[in-house]
Amino acid sequence: MSGTDGLALATRGLRKSYGSRRALDGLDLSVPAGVVYGFLGPNGAGKTTTMRVLTGLVHADGGSVEVLGQPFKRGDRRRLFEVGALVESPTFYPYLSARANLRELAASGAPVSAKRIEELLDLVGLCDRAGDKVQDFSMGMKQRLGIAAALLSDPKLLLLDEPANGLDPAGIVAMRDTLRTLASQGKTVFVSSHLLAEIQVMADVVGIIAAGKLVREGPLKELLSMQGVVKVRVRPNLVDAAIATLAPLAPVERLTETDREEGWLSVHLATDRAEEVNQKLAGDGIYASGLESGTDLEMLFLELTGGQGTSSGEGEFVGLGSPNGGQNGGAPAGKGTAA
Ligand SMILES: Nc1ncnc2c1ncn2[C@@H]1O[C@H](COP(=O)(O)OP(=O)(O)O)[C@@H](O)[C@H]1O
Ligand SMILES: [Mg+2]
Repeated sequence: MSGTDGLALATRGLRKSYGSRRALDGLDLSVPAGVVYGFLGPNGAGKTTTMRVLTGLVHADGGSVEVLGQPFKRGDRRRLFEVGALVESPTFYPYLSARANLRELAASGAPVSAKRIEELLDLVGLCDRAGDKVQDFSMGMKQRLGIAAALLSDPKLLLLDEPANGLDPAGIVAMRDTLRTLASQGKTVFVSSHLLAEIQVMADVVGIIAAGKLVREGPLKELLSMQGVVKVRVRPNLVDAAIATLAPLAPVERLTETDREEGWLSVHLATDRAEEVNQKLAGDGIYASGLESGTDLEMLFLELTGGQGTSSGEGEFVGLGSPNGGQNGGAPAGKGTAA
């Protein structure tokens, strides 16, 4: 494959159908080495299918995969020692302790020292509970033990399918710290989620997929600082006038072609300039009945998920929050901010 230098993982034109249902439709991913890569997409987008292809659990119908600089082919399971994965929810012996479970797993693969097992328990924050039976563990603790298990062979690449599912905010923070630590040790972490908010706190680089295709990929910071979008709603009969008014300010798009009731426009403008949109419209006697703003990434993900992909799930962009805070600007909040 060309153009894959410095990548820990690359897919090109990856395709996979289940019967007539297309799960991956020419997926191209470029995952740089040594980062936490957030693999984001709504439910049904093809994340788990991708993970299953990457771990050899299913075969792709077409396309290519490169893992750690080498082509990954059908039957290449031996190479999976370099890759740790948590794809299906981990199964442990419930009546054994966390430590004993790791020892059992280690016994079935390449030799792992007792010291390494303690290090892993420490890394995932389970030192204090290492002697407790797994049946008494919370979901988050089981997930963390699953990560420790995936790390037993000391892989350079870690694949985690929705590891934050079902975790509370504290659990997500603990997960983020674990993943960040791994990346700082030079490992590549490929982690999926259907929630933008989760990926936003964890990832350095983000890839967004929808319907089995990549829609956006790049460093999280870049994606978040890209031109913002201000959405404004005016009466259907004033849409053309509003476009004429706003066009000198920034590029304007009509969002609702079909639904004439709504009249949403999208103005490509920094989120902290939402007020100007309002002001300009009002100056021409057009009063907005709705105003929203967010980064391009947030808007995009909201469109893909129909509002299910944010932390609140309510389609509220402002105040969604980015890791360093304040990226969203100080735009007026939410729908219904009437002019
Ligand atoms: N074993 C399967 N048989 C049939 N269809 C499947 C199977 N697994 C996944 N799919 C379909 O493939 C698509 C992608 O699913 P999946 O990879 O699980 O998405 P995600 O993990 O992003 O939610 C969905 O339409 C899903 O219904
Ligand atoms: Mg899935």
